[in-house]
Amino acid sequence: MTTAHPALDPRLFGEGPARDERFTVREVWADLENYPDGTPERDHEFLHRQMNEEMCVMENAARSLAEFPDADWSVRKGLARQCADEARHTMNYHRLFEKRGGTLGQYPVLNFQYRLLGKINTLVGRLSVQNRSFEADGLDAATHARDEARASGDHELADMYDAQQADEVVHIRFANEYIKAQMAKHPRIALDMARALSQCAEAFAQVFAGGGTDVEKYGVAVEARLEAGFSPEEVDMAVKMSDERRAAVRARLGIA
Ligand SMILES: [Fe+2]
Ligand SMILES: [Fe+2]
Repeated sequence: MTTAHPALDPRLFGEGPARDERFTVREVWADLENYPDGTPERDHEFLHRQMNEEMCVMENAARSLAEFPDADWSVRKGLARQCADEARHTMNYHRLFEKRGGTLGQYPVLNFQYRLLGKINTLVGRLSVQNRSFEADGLDAATHARDEARASGDHELADMYDAQQADEVVHIRFANEYIKAQMAKHPRIALDMARALSQCAEAFAQVFAGGGTDVEKYGVAVEARLEAGFSPEEVDMAVKMSDERRAAVRARLGIA
């Protein structure tokens, strides 16, 4: 059962996914355990947080498969493969987290991806938000984290990110291909996409209020995004938006 939170507009958030009693579920970023950047606690907590995110992505792909039984075979095959991949990502984070001294449920988790996707009622809308936005951001993050882990000599972590990055490229690409094909047949779906993205932006701002979007360390993984089926113009736009966002965060935090 999902608890209501005063900062969240119930029109933008559906029920949360099932989690057993080992997990403490929170509804907004500020209620998580947010350790300072560059501390071992942050790195350790991140494995647990990301494990749960991967689980939400798996649950979203599974729910889309169940709720859109008449969608084209190619996109259903993509979603089915995604379920298997995200389950593997979840288990990879789980394994590494425990190996590094963690206990399942040690930190609170957030299921916002699952909750907000539940209020988007078209498949193109869901793929626009989950695969083309969240996973594309995740691709930038995983690419950066891989290079950082490799440079610090943590090859076990770098290898995990490397494998994950390759899978995320495929998840974004099948969504891009499906959306492009649908757009050629029904140009009006652009409205569904726009509606889903603005709904997502509003929900995201509510969940991450108070600093949860202050990412200024890394930019867009240009090559990986091109490989994932974004056009050069879309990648240029993403770079521009990311540069502006990071400049604004740096200005706010007083970083030169
Ligand atoms: Fe994943
Ligand atoms: Fe993915």
